[in-house]
Amino acid sequence: MNSPNDTPGFRIVQVSDLHLSTEHEHHYDNWRRVAEWIEREKPDLVVVNGDLVMEDPDADADHAFARDVVAALSVPCRYLPGNHDIGDNVLFGKMEKRVNDERRSRFLRHFGEERWAFDAGRWAFLGLNAQLFGSGGQSAEAEQWTWIENSVQRFTGRPIALFSHKPLFLDHPSEADHEDPLLRQSCLDLASRTRLLELCQRHGVRLVSCGHKHQSRAFSLDGIYHIWAPATACVNGPPDRLHWGVREVGFVDYRFTPDGFTHRFVGADFLFRHENYMRKYGAPGG
Ligand SMILES: [Fe+2]
Ligand SMILES: [Fe+2]
Repeated sequence: MNSPNDTPGFRIVQVSDLHLSTEHEHHYDNWRRVAEWIEREKPDLVVVNGDLVMEDPDADADHAFARDVVAALSVPCRYLPGNHDIGDNVLFGKMEKRVNDERRSRFLRHFGEERWAFDAGRWAFLGLNAQLFGSGGQSAEAEQWTWIENSVQRFTGRPIALFSHKPLFLDHPSEADHEDPLLRQSCLDLASRTRLLELCQRHGVRLVSCGHKHQSRAFSLDGIYHIWAPATACVNGPPDRLHWGVREVGFVDYRFTPDGFTHRFVGADFLFRHENYMRKYGAPGG
């Protein structure tokens, strides 16, 4: 696939946390602007990085709505589920609704996939179902681990970019699982993260790109770049809550070349920075 402009490289636009619903206009205003931008720029691929659905993983109509508006794009898309699409991680989640086979089946019915692997140019790309980590023994988690191990093995010797709805960690890979469920559900649990990072180090993963936190952040550690895509929908939490990244909306424009990759955060200057906490919590003290 060739990019339509002069800049070389395989161009992926990563959109995350769309949070769409049939019930209201929240966030759809932003999505229309994102879609216009994508149609103008025509990247090679759009990675839809989870939380397509506004809130409820069992809201079938919202899944259908999100699928319809994203599938209307004229460029190819790959999908990954988030906690609002299929439920939260069983052992370390926060939401009442947790991942199970029925919710995964719903996502598969609407979006056709929950993980994927492909290559383009020198690069290999892996998308994971982050909601399956710490599943408490679900067979789907074991199957995914086998698939991850086989995939990174297959791509050994090439630079690998890995996509996941949730970040691997907040402060450091060695951090203990948080007591506070709000923080605990923000990233992978320690055991899963340790196992995944060991595979990443061994098989040449160069980039881990995630969403979920509704913040943008880009840093490197131990030879791997970790990039947090902002949400296209809104920022989360009141301004005085601890944030690790930049509290902004947007999406990520990647270009992967034989020598490396570039990224830029796009959209903070033309999307609404919707404040989710205002709708959730109402007036101060209310
Ligand atoms: Fe989200
Ligand atoms: Fe999320």
